[in-house]
Amino acid sequence: MPEIIIVKNEAEAGEIYARCVADLIKSKPNAVLGLATGSSPLAAYQALAKVIDAEGIDVSQVQGFALDEYLGLPLDHPESYHSTINRTVTAPLGLDPAKVHVPGDALGGCPLEDGERIADAGAAYDAAIEAAGGIDVQILGIGTDGHVGFNEPGSSLASGTRVKTLVEQTRADNARFFDDDINQVPTHCITQGIGTIMRARHLVLLAFGKGKAEAIRQTCEGGISAFCPASALQMHPHATIIVDEAAASKLSHKDYYEYAYAHKPAWQGI
Ligand code: GLP
Repeated sequence: MPEIIIVKNEAEAGEIYARCVADLIKSKPNAVLGLATGSSPLAAYQALAKVIDAEGIDVSQVQGFALDEYLGLPLDHPESYHSTINRTVTAPLGLDPAKVHVPGDALGGCPLEDGERIADAGAAYDAAIEAAGGIDVQILGIGTDGHVGFNEPGSSLASGTRVKTLVEQTRADNARFFDDDINQVPTHCITQGIGTIMRARHLVLLAFGKGKAEAIRQTCEGGISAFCPASALQMHPHATIIVDEAAASKLSHKDYYEYAYAHKPAWQGI
C-alpha cells in the first residue's frame, strides 16, 4: 500500500519531491530519474531546479528516462514528449541532454505503419533502463481514467514498454495541447509498461484537483485491476502518493493517512 500524503497545494508537493530527489543525487551522483510529462509534475520540477541551484548540487551524471511518447509526431514538434521533457525538465534542471531518454527517441517520429522499426523499440528501451542500473525515483501523474504513463485501462499489470492505443478520453483531455482539436492528437503512443514502472525502486505519484478524485480513490482504496492501471501501486514496496485536498476528497481513510503522516519520524523521509 502506498504512503498517502495530503498537502495544501502543488508547491508543497513539489518541495517534498525536490527534497527526496536532491538527497538522492547527493548520495548517488549518477542517480536515474524516471520522468513524466503532464501538468502535475511541473511544480515538482520547479522546486527541484531551485534546490539544485541553492545547494549547488552537481547533476552532470544524473540520468533520466521518460515514461512515454506519442507515435507519429516529429521529435521537434512542440508537444512531442521529447520536446516537453527537454523544456520542462532537462533545461531547467541543467541535466545533460545526452543522458535523458524518451521512449520514442529511436523512432524519430516515424509513422505508425513502420512496424519494423517500432516493434523492437519497447524492449530496447527497457534494456536501456536496466543497463543504466534501473530507475531510482519515478515521478508519475495519473489520467482521469487511472492511467499512468499511457497505460490505459486494460493494460497488463506486467507489461513492458510497448505501443498502445490511446482511449478517446485521454485524447480529449490532451487536446488542450493541440489547439483544442482532438483530431490533431495522435492515436497511438509508446509507453513504459506497468511492469517497467513497477521495477523502479521508488514511485512518487502526484495528483491535484477534483477531476482526479475518483482515479485516486480507485488507485488507493479500490481493488487491484488492469482497469485502473495505477492500482498496481498497491503492490509496490515503496510508493508515495501526494495529493491535494480535492484529489483526496473521495478517500474513506483520509483521516488515517493524515494521522500517519503527521506522526512519521522525520528521519524516515518519503
Ligand atoms: C498524459 C501523460 C501522463 C499524465 C497524464 C495526466 O496522459 N501521458 O503521464 O500523467 O497526462 O496529465 P496531467 O498531469 O496534466 O493531468
